[in-house]
Amino acid sequence: MDERAIVAEAFSRTAERYDRFAEDHPHQSRMRAKVYAHLGRHVAAGARILELAAGTGTDAVELARRGYRVHATDIAPGMLARLRGKLGADAGERVSLQQCSFTELDRVAGAPYDAVFSDLGGLNCAPDLRAVVAQLPGVLAPGGTVTWVVMPPICLWELALLFLGQPRVALRRLRPGGTRAHLEGLHFTVRYHTPSAVVAMFGADYRVLEIEGLSVVTPTAESKRLATDHARLYRALAWIDDRLAHVPPWRGWGDFFIVSLRYEPRIAG
Ligand SMILES: C[S@@+](CC[C@H](N)C(=O)[O-])C[C@H]1O[C@@H](n2cnc3c(N)ncnc32)[C@H](O)[C@@H]1O
Repeated sequence: MDERAIVAEAFSRTAERYDRFAEDHPHQSRMRAKVYAHLGRHVAAGARILELAAGTGTDAVELARRGYRVHATDIAPGMLARLRGKLGADAGERVSLQQCSFTELDRVAGAPYDAVFSDLGGLNCAPDLRAVVAQLPGVLAPGGTVTWVVMPPICLWELALLFLGQPRVALRRLRPGGTRAHLEGLHFTVRYHTPSAVVAMFGADYRVLEIEGLSVVTPTAESKRLATDHARLYRALAWIDDRLAHVPPWRGWGDFFIVSLRYEPRIAG
């Protein structure tokens, strides 16, 4: 199996578990709410959004509820099957699905879109994120928006695990060439990117609108318990998060950062 097939199989196998983990997970809900608020600042209501690595469709359904039209794409048929199962009559009208890798955006139906969105690190599976960026002019209308949620190499919460004697997890993002992820008995590479490295991939045809840290001092999305078992501490950390989310370098040191850019191609000649 090539790496793309491995990723598709691993996420298909884990789809049900992925949704179950998100149940009763106020911290992840808070993170997603931050992403929706960020997107709402840059993408007008009613816009047509192309979603990359849409997963089981939590965002597609919510964005449809907020009045957007979403074309949700993902490489893993098992993730898309769960997405399909979530579409009621209302969302069904506003959400379309396509099994498609973000490495082959020339296959995407319905382009161009007003925005290209991707949440919670799906793009960290890209072997070459620059190659995904290079395909955007084929799917994004001039004046359109890119909003991507990406995992950076420095995550304060994970680094703190050094003090709890967990150096493997603490330092995993810093390995040159990325980390080998283990999911459902399969292995693939996850690569981490700083905000400045991602912005540099876009070049002069894109203008940065906003960079926002997501979970700068609150736990990673993998951690469910702090928000429920230590609610006061969690609220204090969330308060600090809100104050650091737009401040460099903190905004690039969380579990994720959200970057939005406007596509403003220069006229050649
Ligand atoms: C951590 S999940 C995130 C899913 C979703 N964005 C969310 O917020 O819940 C990562 C997703 O990336 C998808 N993915 C990984 N490589 C991909 C590729 N080459 N093309 C499209 N999707 C991919 C996986 O199938 C999986 O659904």
